[in-house]
Amino acid sequence: MTPQDPASLLATAKDSTQPLSGPSSWTPPTPEELSGLIPGLAVEALIGRGGMGAVFRARQVRLDRLVALKVLPPAVGRDPEAAERVAREARALAKLNHPGIISVYDHGQVGELLWLTMELIDGANLRQVMETGSLSPETALRLIPCLCKALQYAHDQGVVHRDLKPENILIDAQGAPWIADFGLAKMASEDEAGLTQTGQLLGSYRYMAPEQIAGAKTVDHRADIYALGVVLYELLTGSLPQGRFEPPSRRVAVDVRLDEVVLRSLERDPQRRYQRAEDLSRAVTAAGSSPAPAPAAAPPAAAPAAAPLPTWWQRLQDTRRSHRDRMLAGVCGGLGASTPLPTWLWRAILLMGLLCWGVGGVAYLVLWISIPDGADPPPRTTAWTWAVAAMFLILILFSILYVLS
Ligand SMILES: Nc1ncnc2c1ncn2[C@@H]1O[C@H](COP(=O)(O)OP(=O)(O)OP(=O)(O)O)[C@@H](O)[C@H]1O
Ligand SMILES: [Mg+2]
Repeated sequence: MTPQDPASLLATAKDSTQPLSGPSSWTPPTPEELSGLIPGLAVEALIGRGGMGAVFRARQVRLDRLVALKVLPPAVGRDPEAAERVAREARALAKLNHPGIISVYDHGQVGELLWLTMELIDGANLRQVMETGSLSPETALRLIPCLCKALQYAHDQGVVHRDLKPENILIDAQGAPWIADFGLAKMASEDEAGLTQTGQLLGSYRYMAPEQIAGAKTVDHRADIYALGVVLYELLTGSLPQGRFEPPSRRVAVDVRLDEVVLRSLERDPQRRYQRAEDLSRAVTAAGSSPAPAPAAAPPAAAPAAAPLPTWWQRLQDTRRSHRDRMLAGVCGGLGASTPLPTWLWRAILLMGLLCWGVGGVAYLVLWISIPDGADPPPRTTAWTWAVAAMFLILILFSILYVLS
């Protein structure tokens, strides 16, 4: 076990080529333009872009301290209700005071531009650190309990993050994790007028709890525990737990007890997950630090390790699951969010649609084949007809497997 040097980890992460352009088509103002707009701030450089806004490094002139300045697109500022929500949330966030949570300093609006200043973390976000490929499972297991502590503090104050993902976790020069954007996600998701951008949804839904994707009215702190479970799995294995995923110990050399921890965090039913972030922290610490309890009797012989799946097959599976999840997120999130219908119903409707389409297609072809048109069809036409019918059948089977798997 070699503890990683946070400084070298960050040096590589800062060189990461993560693009500064977000999915939004909005072009943020330049640092010079912003310096003239927001009194008391000298804006130095753009340091990041996300689904909603842009983040700059700035100097608070009077206090001579560096801060992070987040500006939101004019579409948000134009909507007085959204602007009011931002102000309300910023006030609530300013009350959170924890060494693992980025503090909010101030907020305001200039014309249509909403802005927010917060603690600046000199480091990189967890996505950038992961992309260096140098993060060990030990580092991952050290980060999760720190994140749990910060989450538990926020949950105790009645604040739920709802958009926990590697981009919203920053790692400072000492290697300590910080959670960003507490509550900001909530502001965005409450929007009815296009503030939540497709790119942002696509970027975040992989970390969203099923009840959140289904647009449930009551999404509580256990959605954050689910998201942290996804982050834990990704930190350990380098991929996302989609579809029927393999437990971490089948993919990398980690304690098998972590499988249970990950699976419990990712339970679909919030009741079956860890109920508190500190429970997850305890479980991760126990599985990561102490040796596994000795088995009651010595195993007869070392079982042959399960043959690892070929990487091309794994990649194919990941892509398939990602498409399937995206499709379901589109259907369940898009339609489900605006109606009270639950996810399983949308899934059933989708399945019925596919079935009707497939069965209808086959019935049409069977009729076409069976109705004589006076002359015997040439053998080549018959062969084609059967080929098309077989394709329809395969399509139906594949669709059923795709939705159910
Ligand atoms: N307080 C901060 N200190 C230093 N860097 C920050 C700070 N806040 C954000 N960043 C950087 O700016 C990037 C963009 O942040 P932003 O919150 O706008 O987008 P995001 O987190 O990628 O997505 P989303 O809009 O869904 O939150 C972050 O990924 C992070 O690298
Ligand atoms: Mg963010």
